[in-house]
Amino acid sequence: MSSVHGGLQWGVDRMLSVGYGLLYDYIFEKFGPYQKLQAEVLALVDASAKGTPDRRNVHVLDVDCGPGNLTFIIAEAGFSVVGLEPYGALVELAREKRRAKRLANLAFSQGDLFTNKTFRDGTFDQVVNVHSLYAQPDPRALLAHVHRVLKPGGHAVFVNHTRRADVAGTFAELRRREGLGAALRCLFLWLLPHSLFEAARRSIGPHYWSEQEFAANLRAAGFTVLEARRTFLNGASLLLWARKSAE
Ligand SMILES: C[S@@+](CC[C@H](N)C(=O)[O-])C[C@H]1O[C@@H](n2cnc3c(N)ncnc32)[C@H](O)[C@@H]1O
Repeated sequence: MSSVHGGLQWGVDRMLSVGYGLLYDYIFEKFGPYQKLQAEVLALVDASAKGTPDRRNVHVLDVDCGPGNLTFIIAEAGFSVVGLEPYGALVELAREKRRAKRLANLAFSQGDLFTNKTFRDGTFDQVVNVHSLYAQPDPRALLAHVHRVLKPGGHAVFVNHTRRADVAGTFAELRRREGLGAALRCLFLWLLPHSLFEAARRSIGPHYWSEQEFAANLRAAGFTVLEARRTFLNGASLLLWARKSAE
């Protein structure tokens, strides 16, 4: 009986995650602000690796990579990347895409930095983490784990939501600034799906940090903050670029 229940649960889980992953892929392809954000993160990965002749020797970890959209972009730019994601069905989906793309410099691992015993201290040159800190039970502990798995002198890029999605306000602002078409695209491609996922997910947090809190939490974890800037929709997210000390 429990194995039947387990099988059903697995099926539902897989269906939901595949649906989530496919929707995410669709959104990613059509939604300019998301692509812009990924390009911003890639530019910082590139800047952090300045002076390294072969990108394959730069080892990057994408923490909470979801279905791996950013992970693929970093791998396609030539870096060696591992995508880490706790949700098994999303990892399966990312692995299927990896097989189709035949990328050798990319791997996906199921898990999280709290329980993962695979990554030893000082393994990675860089870590990226996009839009997951706000939903973590203990986001400060995650920062400390990122610091732990970085090599001395390694770099990290963190992006975190700073507020709940303001559906009406963002729609009105985009309509005023970019016209009705852009506002409608944003409504259906991001604001509504994101709000639905937020309503459905297990309620943890949310940890919406101001720039000062974010920077202070990074410093408490041992990082030097190199840059902080607003990004994504109407500056709804904060991006912080940080470095671990070289000693
Ligand atoms: C909004 S998605 C972002 C995915 C990816 N980083 C991106 O930007 O495309 C948030 C990710 O954080 C992961 N995650 C880890 N711990 C979580 C938690 N406690 N609550 C929600 N999501 C969590 C989810 O599995 C999901 O892949």
